[in-house]
Amino acid sequence: MTSSLAPLYPSHLQTLMQRASTALERGGFDHLVVPSGTIHYHLFDDRDYPYAVNPQFKAWAPLTSIPGSWLSFTPGQKPKLVYLQPFDYWHVVPEAPSGYWADHFDVVVIREPDEALQHLPADPARCAILGEPQSALGDWVPNNPQAVIDYLDYHRNWKTPYEIAMMRLATQRGVRAHRAAERAFRAGASEFGIHLAYCQAAGQDANELPYGSIIALNEHAAVLHYTERDRVPPAQVRSFLIDAGASHGGYACDITRTYAADASGEFQSLIDAVDRVQQQLNAKFTAGADFRQVHLDAHLMLAGVLHEFGVLRASAESAVESGVSSAFFPHGLGHGIGLQVHDVAGFASSDAGGRIEPPEGHPFLRFTRKLEAGMVMTNEPGVYFIDLLLDKVRQGPHADSVDWDRVDHFRPYGGIRIEDDLVVTDGEPVNLTRDEFAKPE
Ligand code: GLY
Ligand code: MN
Ligand code: MN
Repeated sequence: MTSSLAPLYPSHLQTLMQRASTALERGGFDHLVVPSGTIHYHLFDDRDYPYAVNPQFKAWAPLTSIPGSWLSFTPGQKPKLVYLQPFDYWHVVPEAPSGYWADHFDVVVIREPDEALQHLPADPARCAILGEPQSALGDWVPNNPQAVIDYLDYHRNWKTPYEIAMMRLATQRGVRAHRAAERAFRAGASEFGIHLAYCQAAGQDANELPYGSIIALNEHAAVLHYTERDRVPPAQVRSFLIDAGASHGGYACDITRTYAADASGEFQSLIDAVDRVQQQLNAKFTAGADFRQVHLDAHLMLAGVLHEFGVLRASAESAVESGVSSAFFPHGLGHGIGLQVHDVAGFASSDAGGRIEPPEGHPFLRFTRKLEAGMVMTNEPGVYFIDLLLDKVRQGPHADSVDWDRVDHFRPYGGIRIEDDLVVTDGEPVNLTRDEFAKPE
């Protein structure tokens, strides 16, 4: 694993150093300083929250569990890593720095957080310090200059080959776990049981996964971010929607699949139809495409499916025009993914700031930029039967555009979402998710 990453890492680091140099120029600073972050505690309690590393830190090396450490970079010099390895007999101490990345840094191991002060650039005023307020150490107070962050975030949407390899490794875990989850569903497990099977197969617990898994049986699939997990299975199991990822070295995958208990029933046919649309949409994730338009295309195609299944009486075109399609598909088609499951700068109009708004009536679209080769995006169309949204349609002027008996028929299944992670190219995208599912178990 390490051997496949080692040859890719130097050019990744080179790219980061180039980006950091330009970002510093833009902001008028001489050094980039990035704390890894600190442990947070519950209010009035000595219990800590799961540590979440600063994404600006883990971009540089796959170090996700060394709080109190610092990265510093001065253009033209080797980057420096101030690595906190405390003397501590209460907790497991981070391993000594080693791995394919380690030789590319001047590494200084410190034993107390305050020792970092001696190893950071001399003048804090000349530093862009990217971090949370709580990481402040002496005069080293995060200032998060907007010009620096805008530049770094904008360019982070293009993944290096190293990052894509990291995401493939995350996907390997994710797909293995999705397969285990489907087996648990078929065996009649509860949502909680499926969750445990998923974590076991991923080799990651809920704190290590890149987001809270959505494991929804039956009507629960209509709750877009359902994270409750019933401890007992329902009396009758009809459907299963699982939106769950995995991590590798700080990189995420984000995968959704939907299954029907009855492989020959109509809900399975509806899943198959959404799956076909999803794959047709995959082909639109190509360099130069305006993602706002791809999202609108998805509405038309999904409304077409709903019309074909008799849920929509109205034509697909009029359902999109009237906004009725948004009651069935109320979220965005996709988002950038990488160090964060919802990656940064999805609305950025340039690397110097500015914002591209989502189309009117589509406030939940998280990415409005043009697609370009090297970006990694999710493609996640869905169709849901959500009472709250459908009741509004039912009480509104377009109630006749829906066959409510067909809605009643599908409501007990909740909904469908199919989600893949795609690397955009000048032609067909590379499908990280389906590539992995295509491999034999
Ligand atoms: N798992 C959250 C999402 O698909 O965006
Ligand atoms: Mn997603
Ligand atoms: Mn997802």
